[in-house]
This record gives sequence, structure tokens and C-alpha cells, in this order.
Amino acid sequence: MDTPSNINGKVRRLYPGEAIPYDLLLLADETEAAINRYIYDSDVYVYEAQNEIIAIYVLQVTGSDEIEIKNIAVEKRHQNLSIGKLLLRDAEIKAKEKGFGSIIIGTGDASIKQLYIYQKAGFEVFDIKKNFYIDNYPEPIFENGIQLKHMLVLKKKIR
Ligand code: ACO
Repeated sequence: MDTPSNINGKVRRLYPGEAIPYDLLLLADETEAAINRYIYDSDVYVYEAQNEIIAIYVLQVTGSDEIEIKNIAVEKRHQNLSIGKLLLRDAEIKAKEKGFGSIIIGTGDASIKQLYIYQKAGFEVFDIKKNFYIDNYPEPIFENGIQLKHMLVLKKKIR
């Protein structure tokens, strides 16, 4: 079975002027309009293997001591190979290098796999944005057969 070590990919910054991989970002966010609200004000990191971008994460400064993972996504055929966990660790290293004391990430109240991975990586729920997915998106969003309503915001202290 493939793992990040035998896929042998590398994380790099998206080059200035390089096309934004919306196909990947749209796995984690519903619309280009929602993505465009943060992408131009963020650092975009991609995971590339054999000259193909197969995963992505986006970091945005959201406070004097806090940085947020706004989007994290792995191409469908490469999911469940530990690339997501690798990207979470990489984001934490980048956040530390930039001198931030905590890193946050938001996800849906029915996003069971995401909640599992984030908590296993040391993130803890610290806030709930009530009705976030109802107020901010034109259509209802379902995951695991459950309508997303509230955003759970998780935080990990890294200093
Ligand atoms: N329920 C619970 N756990 C699950 C499920 C499930 N349905 N499916 C898989 N898992 C577990 C696996 O067993 C594994 O756990 P283990 O390490 O303890 O064995 C773990 O989840 C999988 O970890 P990875 O392989 O590192 O995850 P992956 O590479 O697939 O990346 C990600 C995770 C980013 C969520 C990916 O699946 C993805 O791109 N999903 C679609 C986009 C998305 O939802 N992104 C996050 C939105 S929130 C945001 O962007 C801020």
C-alpha cells in the first residue's frame, strides 16, 4: 500500500503566479467564492509527488499569536495514506518557525474523520460558531448523512 514515504512527495510553497489548485481546495470548502475570501491573504503549501500536486493546506494569520489552517485537502485517490497527518505536522512546524503560539482549525460538527484526525494530532475544541454552515452557504451541506450546522473551532498550543 502507498504511504507518504513511498509516494515520496514534498511540501513546498505555491510559487508566486502559479495557478491556485481550486480542484483540491474545493474538497475542503464548498465554493470558490468562500475560498477567495481567504486565499489571497494566506500562505499556500502544496504536497507534490512526481510533479503532481496531490494535497494542499492554507495558513492565514488570524491573531497576533495565532495562525489558522483555513483549508487542508488530499486528492481523493490519495486519502487515508497519512498525507493529511503529515500536512498537519508540517503546518505546525511552519507555525512554530513563524513564531506563533497556537494554531487553529475549524471544521463541521458532522465532520467525523476530520474531528478524529485533528484531536489525535493534539487539537482541542475551544469554540463553536453557531449556525456557521447555515448562515454562510447557499445550500445545505451534508456529511456522513448529517446536515452541517455549527463550525467547531479547535486549537493546539505550540509554545
Ligand atoms: N471516521 C473516523 N476516522 C476515519 C474515517 C472515518 N470515516 N476515515 C478514515 N479515518 C481515519 C483513518 O483510520 C486514519 O486514522 P489512523 O491514523 O489513526 O489510522 C485517519 O483517519 C486518516 O488520516 P490521513 O490518512 O492522514 O488522512 P488523509 O490523508 O485522508 O487527510 C483529510 C485527511 C485532509 C481530511 C482528507 O481526507 C481530505 O482531503 N478530505 C476532504 C477535504 C476535507 O474535508 N478537508 C478538511 C476540511 S476542514 C478544513 O479544511 C480546515
